[in-house]
Amino acid sequence: MIVIPTHMKISVIGTGYVGLVTGAVFSDWGHDVVCADIIEEKIAMLKKGVMPIYEDGLKELVNKNVKEERLSFTTDVAKSIKESEVVFIAVGTPSNQSGSADLSAVWAVAKTIGENLNDYKIIITKSTVPVGTNERVWEIVKENSPEGAKFACVSNPEFLREGTSIYDANNTDRVILGSDDPKAIDKIATLYEHLNAPIVKCDFRSAELVKYASNAFLATKISFINEIARICHSAGADVKVVSEGMGLDKRIGRAFLNAGIGYGGSCFPKDVEALYRTSSDHEYDFRLLRGVMDVNERQKYFYIEQIVRHFKGNLSGKTFACLGLAFKNNTDDTRKSVALEIVKMLRGEGARLRVFDPAAMENAKKVLGNDVIYYAKDLMDAIEGSDGICILTEWQEFAEIDLAEAKKTLKKAVIFDGRNLLDPASVRKAGFEYFGIGRR
Ligand code: UDX
Repeated sequence: MIVIPTHMKISVIGTGYVGLVTGAVFSDWGHDVVCADIIEEKIAMLKKGVMPIYEDGLKELVNKNVKEERLSFTTDVAKSIKESEVVFIAVGTPSNQSGSADLSAVWAVAKTIGENLNDYKIIITKSTVPVGTNERVWEIVKENSPEGAKFACVSNPEFLREGTSIYDANNTDRVILGSDDPKAIDKIATLYEHLNAPIVKCDFRSAELVKYASNAFLATKISFINEIARICHSAGADVKVVSEGMGLDKRIGRAFLNAGIGYGGSCFPKDVEALYRTSSDHEYDFRLLRGVMDVNERQKYFYIEQIVRHFKGNLSGKTFACLGLAFKNNTDDTRKSVALEIVKMLRGEGARLRVFDPAAMENAKKVLGNDVIYYAKDLMDAIEGSDGICILTEWQEFAEIDLAEAKKTLKKAVIFDGRNLLDPASVRKAGFEYFGIGRR
């Protein structure tokens, strides 16, 4: 535990990735934290020490802080608000049908906070919310709180990545605090000061946009390198070398220049689309983002086409080992997973599938069902008797695949590496045909 100068009583409303990790990390920093959620099953699980999500180190962190009595869980949202000086809103903001963010959960929490405002509180929005949301939160709290009740609102977007979220929370590149109340900003800044990260103090709207602009920019990097991969494919160049070469320029950086089957997950697809909607709402056509989304949508077809072409246009009756079902490595999350979309597309082409993911089997089953799919026990079980291997998620375990062993059980030694995990020369040396994304 880190000894922090200002001890705070904090409630975090919403126990999804952001809320749960934020609550656990704040308690580990020494604050008194209660995590509240209206979903009873979730809170019951957490009270028993069972994590509703797979996240490296989370269970240990939660259990340690529960034991040391700094962290607790409740479904009594009202009580958690009343007993705290700082209230974090960390509920989900999924896409609605038009692509804009569905803010109904944020509005509901703001109303509950207003109704339970017994003394001065700072209300902080951690959820990713479009421009103008924090101002509306302020109004809703005001409308629902007792006459003369005092409070402040602060926008504090979260940048953690699934799979490395605890590390990210303790090693953030920056803290963004947006408000019209400088005193509230300064108070919340004390929560983060020990991290020695730059703290950007600004208005609500700029803070809200930092989050969308950051995610959209990272998605743009991915779509950009996926386009470069297409050129590499046609021109006989290697996208990995191009990424390395580009990344050495400090102004560009190597991160998020891994070509693959496209980005997925609960954030990038939703946030890029929501930013596009926001720009349209302000009568601006964000052309670049249209391109980013379009490239991402097409990338999986490029991957499938390579497989279909290799099997001369007919995948019917062929069996593929699909390695990876989560939207990326080190998570069990299959939301907007491109890997799952590819599995469905291969099935649509009449292929038989043997699938494996180190963490996401249960979540994948909920989406894919049992129809025509064999859920393998492990990597080698998936490969057995297959006509080819499809690498769909960048798990390290797949990068370390024992090619000699795999070759013994495969019908055809061919790998379609959708994440450019393997070295083409070594794979070919081991007697395989190799297809990557824009590799030589
Ligand atoms: C992202 C942001 O990184 C994080 O700051 C924000 O808070 C939430 O959204 P996350 O969704 O956990 O985090 O995943 P991330 O690691 O960013 O990957 C997103 C997707 O992009 C994955 O599907 C991943 O496979 C893909 N990706 C990432 C690439 O295809 N290439 C890359 O170079 C990097």
